[in-house]
Amino acid sequence: SESSGYPPGPIDYQTLMDMEYLDAAINESLRLYPIVNRLERVAKASVEINNLLIPKDMVVMVPVWPLHRNPEIWPEPEKFKPERFTKGNKETIDPYTYMPFGMGPRNCIGMRFALVSMKLVMTKILQRFSFSVCNETEVRLQMLTFQLCFILTVKVRPWCDGSLMNET
Ligand code: HEM
Repeated sequence: SESSGYPPGPIDYQTLMDMEYLDAAINESLRLYPIVNRLERVAKASVEINNLLIPKDMVVMVPVWPLHRNPEIWPEPEKFKPERFTKGNKETIDPYTYMPFGMGPRNCIGMRFALVSMKLVMTKILQRFSFSVCNETEVRLQMLTFQLCFILTVKVRPWCDGSLMNET
């Protein structure tokens, strides 16, 4: 309902930025399926944090995937709930518990470009097609071993004059 509807109209930057629920849905997808599932840094000097000594040159791994699914941080962590990222809720998120684009001075330089591209692609697709679950849809996606990808089977129907065509 956030897209400009049928027939597909032009989409400008501001229209994309105003789509708050799409933004929340993309954020929630990146929480459940972060493309980079762990971050790494090398200590330039020895440092003690919370009584833990990190010696110089040690590689420190930040476990993004487990952080994104920690039930103490995200109630019902396996559930897809974009509302976690809508106004009123997103402000309460500790940025060190949600890091799909990394953190600090070496975080992803393509973050804004990636987000706006995803929103544009989603809007263009949803203006033209409707997606719904079918018997073959696996509600909980299983990652294919060693391939870092998922297969999602859904029913796709094109929009025509504002109503759905029957072909699937
Ligand atoms: C959904 C899409 C993307 C995701 C989830 C993503 C995620 C990440 C993550 C997690 C890092 C490591 C950050 C860190 O260590 O703190 C990173 C680094 C980086 N990303 Fe992305 N990225 C995406 C798209 C892009 C795009 C579109 C570009 C370029 C146009 C890009 C360019 C880079 C570069 C150059 C770095 C290295 C930055 C550095 O080491 O200083 N990324 N990205």
